[in-house]
Amino acid sequence: MSTLKILAIPGSLRRASYNRALARAAVELAPAGATVEIAELHGIPVYDEDVNSAGAPQVVLDLKRRIAEADAVFIATPEYNHGVPGVLKNAIDWTSRRPSQPWKGKPVAIAGASDGGFGTVRAQLALRPTLACLGAMVVPTPQVHVSFAQDKFDAEGRLTDEKTREKLRQLLVALAGQVGERHPA
Ligand code: FNR
Repeated sequence: MSTLKILAIPGSLRRASYNRALARAAVELAPAGATVEIAELHGIPVYDEDVNSAGAPQVVLDLKRRIAEADAVFIATPEYNHGVPGVLKNAIDWTSRRPSQPWKGKPVAIAGASDGGFGTVRAQLALRPTLACLGAMVVPTPQVHVSFAQDKFDAEGRLTDEKTREKLRQLLVALAGQVGERHPA
C-alpha cells in the first residue's frame, strides 16, 4: 500500500509560531502509513488579480502543486481578531484561482493554537465556510483548539500536553480515514 501524503500548512510566518509547532507535532504524530510534510507561506505576495491574470508567482504555483499532490491537508491556523489571519486567507485565495484549484474534494483537517483561552475556535469556524466553498472535505471532528499555547509547548516548540497530543493524533487518524472514504481500497 502506498504512503498517504499529508501536507501541513502553518498559518503564521512567525519564527516561534505555536501553529508551526503544531504542524511539527503533526509530523511527529502521523498515523501509521502516513507522512506529514510542512509547507510554509513565506514569500507569497498580497493577492492581486492583475498579477494572477498575467501568471501567478512561482511560490503560489509551487504551493498549488504541493496541495494537489497531497492526499490530504492539515491546516494549523492562528486567530487574529477573531478571524483567519490574512497570511493564511491570502494563500487560500491565491490557490483558489483559475486555471486550476487544488482544494476540490481534498480532505482537510483544521486545528489551531493561540495564547488565549479560546484556542482559535472562532478562526476555525471562519475557515470552514471558505474551505467548503472551494469543495474541500473538512473533517468535522475531533476539533483541536489549543488554548493557552504557552503552557502546552516547551521552549523548543515541542507539544508537551498529552491531552492535546492525543486529540491531534485522533484528528490525523480521522483525516486519513477521510482519504480512505474518498479512495476505497
Ligand atoms: C492575536 N492573538 C489573538 N489570539 C486569540 O486567541 N484571539 C484573537 O482574536 C487574537 N487576535 C490577535 C490579533 C493579532 C493581530 C495578533 C498579532 C495576535 C494572539 C495570537 O493567538 C498569538 O499571537 C499566537 O501566538 C499567534 O499564532 P502563532 O504566530 O504563534 O502561530
